[in-house]
Amino acid sequence: MIPQSFVQDLLSRIDIVDVIERYLPLKKGGANYFACCPFHGEKSASFSVSPTKQFYHCFGCGAHGSAIGFLMEYSGLGFVEAVKELAAQAGVQVPDDGKQASHQPDRDTERLLEAMSATTRFYREQLKNAPAAIDYLKRRGLSGEIAARFNIGYAPDEWQALQRIFPDYQAKHLADAGLVIDNDQGRRYDRFRNRIIFPIHDRRGRVIAFGGRVLDSGEPKYLNSPETPLFEKGRELYGLFLAQKAIRDAGFALVVEGYMDVVALAQFGIENAVATLGTATTPHHIQTLLRQTDRIVFCFDGDSAGRRAARRALENALEALRDDVTLAFLFLPTEHDPDSFVRDKGADAFRNAATNATPLARVLMQELTEQCDLETPEGRARLVHEAKPLVTRVAAPLLRLQLVKMIADASGLTQKEVEHAFGLQSASNTRTQREPQWRDTPRGERGFDRQAAPPRAQGRRRAPSTSSTLLRLVVHHPNWAARLPVDLIPADNPEGRALIAIIDLVSLGEPLPSGGLGALIERFRDTPHGETLAHIAIELIDTEFDDNVVETLFEDALRKLGADAVTREITELLEAAKTGSLSATERHRLSELLLERRNLVNVGKVSDL
Ligand code: UTP
Ligand code: MN
Repeated sequence: MIPQSFVQDLLSRIDIVDVIERYLPLKKGGANYFACCPFHGEKSASFSVSPTKQFYHCFGCGAHGSAIGFLMEYSGLGFVEAVKELAAQAGVQVPDDGKQASHQPDRDTERLLEAMSATTRFYREQLKNAPAAIDYLKRRGLSGEIAARFNIGYAPDEWQALQRIFPDYQAKHLADAGLVIDNDQGRRYDRFRNRIIFPIHDRRGRVIAFGGRVLDSGEPKYLNSPETPLFEKGRELYGLFLAQKAIRDAGFALVVEGYMDVVALAQFGIENAVATLGTATTPHHIQTLLRQTDRIVFCFDGDSAGRRAARRALENALEALRDDVTLAFLFLPTEHDPDSFVRDKGADAFRNAATNATPLARVLMQELTEQCDLETPEGRARLVHEAKPLVTRVAAPLLRLQLVKMIADASGLTQKEVEHAFGLQSASNTRTQREPQWRDTPRGERGFDRQAAPPRAQGRRRAPSTSSTLLRLVVHHPNWAARLPVDLIPADNPEGRALIAIIDLVSLGEPLPSGGLGALIERFRDTPHGETLAHIAIELIDTEFDDNVVETLFEDALRKLGADAVTREITELLEAAKTGSLSATERHRLSELLLERRNLVNVGKVSDL
């Protein structure tokens, strides 16, 4: 956990314009800066960055957030990683929290990373002097250019080649990095020998592991780094660092099985491919990719192992599904993997196949119906039985509903009966609309945002509520929250609740965010208030406030808050009076309130508000 105070301090030191400018050329226009949105393909600049609000927003696709949010979305980093990256850019040390302090992660990690990077350079050099390895790569059709791009190298056919670059060959961190192996007799030797080396990069482009292929035949065909403090197989994707931009440009990510597939596809101009590392596709892989795109195409080899891999990917995808993403499966002809397919049929044929990949729901139904004889009652019952554990795991409510209907059709049951068999609440009783998922990825927030953003040009606008006005003012002057009577703020709407949350911060004595609206939003990350505030930031991104006007507005709204409370109480009492149950005190209170309201109207404090 990174302390909130650190995040706030960091955000108050940096400028979102500088941060984003490192990645995108920004042009000034009025108070804000503009660029073509990096998150969706476009030719006009809909992406705006507000230096006063420390917030960015794309009017085209709805992407928005603080500097931290930008790094998360742009580089596919997690929150902690993004904060660390931002801190590194600002030259600020991230505090160690108590839990991690014991093993000094940073110094150790650095040493491992240095060893990996020195080894990568060494293997690159070795390739130049290894005619057999070069010959092998050539026979596989790899160009020198693509080998360089992927940093492909060669581990020489020696037991201790790494001793040449690590004079302290016995150092512990070489074993920790998985570069060497200690045998039972305490003798140490290189893990990778006489193999083509594929460096595996993390999302920041640092080498964290290697995959090594034998030249021609031999066992195992691929030898990979073990799991190390740098490398957790189920989290990393081969090629992601290089593919990030292409994934955004193409609008989808392609998941393949092998190193060679990624490299071959890239050589043919298909650069948006990544590979899992000899493991099944995990939900974590899927979430990582969904941070960058809303479409994933899984491409598996045409053989039976490929089919099994597809099935596992499908199962692992169910929980990561959302209604605003598309997952599809591309099955190649039996004799092919992506590498051989693209070489044999060409890039266009491959692209075509990827475009026409089968959507997940259909693959799921095919898998299920293949197993069951739908001509018999037993087969149809089995279908429902087999479908249950899969369909109930689907996290996307609308897609789940579709699947329930498909199962109902295929099994001859009604939708209700299937839902009952699955132990699901009937769709008619549940809200099928996508609930905002606060702990979702930035991409998810965007999906929500599209649906909930205030319609801009739709008919007459409703007058804003008082809490909504106050919240818009308080985000510009968070310290004004101290002047608000918390009891009078209705908690029956998101804006009122956000306002109350801000007042609570103040009354708890927490220093208020001074890094603009972006920092305030960060303070409420993972809570509904974060998104409420983000909507306001989006709406006001082009608005600059005159402090004098704002002060007057604030005082008016404060009075209106009092008047609203009076009106609310009057309404309640009048409602109660209808059922004839007002006590004497209540009647007295009502006349008091009516008088108060008349006074408010007379001095003009209410009618115009
Ligand atoms: P494949 O056997 O499909 O290999 O394994 P490939 O990628 O097509 O490689 P080439 O074309 O024969 O050179 C797919 C992936 O499974 C992992 C590797 O990540 C490989 O890229 N694998 C395979 C291993 O980790 N170890 C192995 O022994 C074999
Ligand atoms: Mn292959």
